[in-house]
Amino acid sequence: MASKTKDQKPHHIAIIMDGNGRWAKQRLLPRYAGHKAGVETVRRVIKFCSENDIKALTLFAFSSENWRRPKQEVSLLMDLFMTALQREIDTLHKNNVCLRIIGNKKAFSEKLQKLIADAEEQTKNNSGINLVIAANYGGHWDIVEATKRLAARVEQGQLQSSDINESLLATEISLADLPEPDLFIRTGGEKRVSNFLLWQLAYTELYFTDTLWPDFDKATFTKALESFATRQRRFGRTADQVEQENA
Ligand code: IPE
Ligand code: IPE
Ligand code: MG
Repeated sequence: MASKTKDQKPHHIAIIMDGNGRWAKQRLLPRYAGHKAGVETVRRVIKFCSENDIKALTLFAFSSENWRRPKQEVSLLMDLFMTALQREIDTLHKNNVCLRIIGNKKAFSEKLQKLIADAEEQTKNNSGINLVIAANYGGHWDIVEATKRLAARVEQGQLQSSDINESLLATEISLADLPEPDLFIRTGGEKRVSNFLLWQLAYTELYFTDTLWPDFDKATFTKALESFATRQRRFGRTADQVEQENA
């Protein structure tokens, strides 16, 4: 685990992209216009992360609770996701991006599921930034799925329930193969985690900004990175211990 060092940079940034609806409302536009503008921000942020040598970027696009929104908004969001994926996949591939989608994909249309599988297949050997889109994702769902996989191994006699510990469960949780998220950003002013990566965020540095997602740009992103650079990551130890270690 890394502690604060000079020019400390995050390896894995996880973002709750919030505020699209309010951005549109401010402009007397339908909420959909905010989501559309949000896609442009996604493109900007991927580019910025690639330029800054960030190894992984996880973006919360649709939560398991977002089905509670009006039917029409849900269906517009699904269409937008599908169109953006179709339109961007070749460029992502060209830019060496390795794409994966986490979340309960079974709830998506067959067509969207196929598109996701193809996009993941196309980019799986790329060595550039790992781009993760969390769609129909919930932190609770993630922990339940990991638990089910362990339970199945116990049932099959491959594992004893007494063998289950934190590190074993961690191997079954989404993103286990990536560096742990070290910087969490939420735009849009709310100060909550909204069932995003609950397990994975245990020791992540949190950064909240009032900037609405469609307005999130290089300058606001730089502020988040600057804030991260000043954090001392102690992981339970004292400041003195950490300073000694870095001396
Ligand atoms: C985030 O923006 C996008 C999704 C949840 C899909 P919102 O749509 O939540 O925007 P606000 O919070 O209503 O402004
Ligand atoms: C969280 O935003 C989910 C995504 C950004 C995809 P919400 O806007 O849905 O969160 P709550 O409901 O305000 O907590
Ligand atoms: Mg919101």
